[in-house]
Amino acid sequence: MDFKIGVLAGDGIGPEIVEQAIKVMDAVGNKFGHKFNYTEALVGAIAIDETGNPYPDETHEVCMQSDAVLFGAIGDPKYDNNPAAKVRPEQGLLGMRKKLGLYANIRPVATFPSLMDKSPLRKDIVQDVDLVVIRELTGGIYFGARGRSEDQTAAFDTCYYTTEEVERILKLAYVYAGKRNKKVTVVDKANVLASSRLWREVAQRVEKEYTDIETDYMLVDNAAMQLIQWPKKFDVMVTENMFGDILSDEASVITGSMGLLPSASIGKETSVFEPIHGSYPQAAGQDIANPLATVLSAAMLLESLDLLEEAQAVKDVVNKSIEEGYVTVDIAGESESCKTSQVGDWLAANL
Ligand code: IPM
Ligand code: MG
Repeated sequence: MDFKIGVLAGDGIGPEIVEQAIKVMDAVGNKFGHKFNYTEALVGAIAIDETGNPYPDETHEVCMQSDAVLFGAIGDPKYDNNPAAKVRPEQGLLGMRKKLGLYANIRPVATFPSLMDKSPLRKDIVQDVDLVVIRELTGGIYFGARGRSEDQTAAFDTCYYTTEEVERILKLAYVYAGKRNKKVTVVDKANVLASSRLWREVAQRVEKEYTDIETDYMLVDNAAMQLIQWPKKFDVMVTENMFGDILSDEASVITGSMGLLPSASIGKETSVFEPIHGSYPQAAGQDIANPLATVLSAAMLLESLDLLEEAQAVKDVVNKSIEEGYVTVDIAGESESCKTSQVGDWLAANL
């Protein structure tokens, strides 16, 4: 089959890691008889430099026309330390989420047996961890009213959710749990926040539609703690935008292999697949960044196109590269490491 893939490589290490994922997708195409037609478009700091807009209209058009979008990373230090900057790369990401209706961010976290010693946690705690954080991505405090008082000495952000937004993400979480270990943990701050009480109210109703799935309710502070103490007890965690931002970063370091974790942002118009790590500007252009999270994001992309066997082949070859030590310096440690491009070549050749 033929597929249209939007490619938004972005900033920092984005272009080099995306290049490796494309090598692997092309190898999948050759092996399974598909053709992936790529269209590149600008996003992030590079888009600001070239067009003044971090998510230009042309890029949006490319995404809208694509069956799926592969995304690298955005962010540039020249904006991070300048609170007065009028446009920032992150606005491109948020604009893209909103305009494409990317309402659900899915971050699976599972341990790789051969990398267990990389975890900051004890082996008995992390062994067999297999959970997924589902974060609402187009609502909440990220998109609510914000501003400053007239005299500029006070500021506010608003966490706003509609019943429909909450219901939509909860249902998606239940569908995921149905295909996994049949447990949903709804994370909120219902002891304090009105928006969280709405979440809980909706969840208590939606829960009844999925009787084969166990539902747990947890306050976010407690969830942050339990994620470190007993990560194994979670299957699907579902939560609002900012709690999800924080908890998914926390969850991602449990396995000790942040460079390996992919994500999917599911949308109404199309879906976007990207590594969870950032643009790692210090490593840009050096051919040392770990491309595996992006390659695994490509595997999630293939799954979204219903190419399940193809996705499995990608995951298998990634596992093989880790087991056989064809990995970048972040994983290789003292042993001999490969360059970013060599990992991509190896994966494509061994798929
Ligand atoms: C993420 C990032 C973004 C977010 C930033 C870059 C705006 O941290 O995708 O998790 O907060 O959503
Ligand atoms: Mg984040």
